[in-house]
Amino acid sequence: MAGLFITMEGPDGAGKTTQIEKLKDYLSCKGYDIILCREPGGTKISEAIREVILNKEFKEMGYMTELLLYASARAQLVEQVIRPALDEDKIVICDRFVDSSAVYQGIARGLGTELVYEVNQYAIGDTFPDITILLEIQGKEGIYRKKNQGSLDRMESEAAAFHEKVAQGYHTLADECPDRIRRIDGTQSIDTIHKQIVQMIEDILRTK
Ligand code: TMP
Repeated sequence: MAGLFITMEGPDGAGKTTQIEKLKDYLSCKGYDIILCREPGGTKISEAIREVILNKEFKEMGYMTELLLYASARAQLVEQVIRPALDEDKIVICDRFVDSSAVYQGIARGLGTELVYEVNQYAIGDTFPDITILLEIQGKEGIYRKKNQGSLDRMESEAAAFHEKVAQGYHTLADECPDRIRRIDGTQSIDTIHKQIVQMIEDILRTK
């Protein structure tokens, strides 16, 4: 089996992290070699860039700066972690990837998805997810969940309208890529969502 690249996407507070952990446990028990990573982050350099991007003190950050910082963190992660793992036939599960930039910077910030993919071409080359699981919730619901978990970072502190644009942006993107992006209702119970994800991944592993 060649490596498998799975990404998990959704608005802030959609429950990605919980589902990634459960999927990792499930696949590890089945004997698969799993690499988990998150964006922005996943390497020492990318985690340092994350600190800059999400720092609430940097309110003046321009949208282009933001886009390029996310792309830089991604370039390092792809080169240092994702590509080598896929070359070794491992399963990589990444919490967010280039679709996050398409939605947050391209659609919600208004930079345009074409520009976002063009810039990111330099960061990712031909490393693209085999399957993307999208946990769908309303923007305000996700931020409500986040607020209950603690203080909000620079992106999470954006206005409610921004998070609604993000949620809508994901719908649009999923409509454009129905084969790769699989939508799941993120308001369901943790176990129900997990079962649906497992079903999707098992189907892919069977045909690989
Ligand atoms: P996280 O909270 O899921 O770790 O993601 C960090 C924040 O960064 C989240 O608000 C989404 C945002 N983000 C972007 O705006 N563009 C991107 O390319 C990525 C990866 C994340």
